[in-house]
Amino acid sequence: MSTQDKKSQSGSEEINFEKALRPTAWDDYIGQEKVKQHLRLMIDAARARKEPCDHLLFYGQPGLGKTTLAYLIGKEMQTQVRSTSGPALEKPGDIAALLTNLEPHDILFIDEAHRINKLVEEVLYPAMETRTLHLIIGKGPSAKTFSLDLPPFTIVAATTKANLLSSPLRSRFGAIFRLEFYDVKDIEKILTRSAHLLGVEITHEAKKILAETARFTPRTANRLLKRARDYAQLYRKNVIDNTCAEETLKLLDIDEFGLERADRDFLEILIDKFQGGPVGIRALGAALNEEPGTIEDVYEPFLMQIGLLQRTPAGRIATKRAYTHLKKDHKSPLF
Ligand code: ADE
Repeated sequence: MSTQDKKSQSGSEEINFEKALRPTAWDDYIGQEKVKQHLRLMIDAARARKEPCDHLLFYGQPGLGKTTLAYLIGKEMQTQVRSTSGPALEKPGDIAALLTNLEPHDILFIDEAHRINKLVEEVLYPAMETRTLHLIIGKGPSAKTFSLDLPPFTIVAATTKANLLSSPLRSRFGAIFRLEFYDVKDIEKILTRSAHLLGVEITHEAKKILAETARFTPRTANRLLKRARDYAQLYRKNVIDNTCAEETLKLLDIDEFGLERADRDFLEILIDKFQGGPVGIRALGAALNEEPGTIEDVYEPFLMQIGLLQRTPAGRIATKRAYTHLKKDHKSPLF
């Protein structure tokens, strides 16, 4: 989760906003061209055979459109999408209840699939492979197993951490897709579409400013757009122009790279306290008062993507670009 995502995850307003902007047809879905092409092929072929699509796994950073794709596939296959998540499936009975309530050809979307526990996974294996549900009722010598046939269905799973998925589970997906960060041009197109859907006008320049600071992520772009709309509304402007975009970013303390205060603090600690590294993640975590997992998942992917941070076997290193961006002297012996 990016820091922006983490901060504003609360609030059903954000969720409704995201849902409202979700593309519901392939032509509206911008970017991820390779993934889209492959998926369309699979879906069209499955539909022609009147079969459900193979089980699918999407992985990638938060906000890149994994859930959006699951619902888009539902629309394309003209089926219902039932939704759950790894942590919500506490016991085998939870997944059994969902599977037995599926209508033929339904999609079961499982978010945060890396958090599915072992016992639930074991119910999923035969369900995904042969559409049978094996359940054990009771304990000890009197325990009974029974099997149930399930209707044809598709599991669409999403995770930010494909490496944490067990290999037996991973191997049961017919196709695995990695979602990439978007390029700035595609983010601009997404902003154009979203502004249109929200009924707000935005200048080309403002769109460019927001797109460049959106961390290559549609969810972040849409959120910045919404904040800029708030700003425009408050200052009685009927269009989001460059001043409006710049003032919004200033208010949110987001710089021209899309870094927030927390990202800059991260890099500053790395540079000031550890001479730019290499430093181990635990030492960095202690200095920042953050869990190593949060550093790995929240801070690092984007900083690495824009070339401000390197992960090496010896530890984390701030790059020359990070020094330049934060206007620090290049004292590191590494460059
Ligand atoms: N909104 C969020 N993601 C999108 C995408 N990939 N295309 C169009 N609109 C979006």
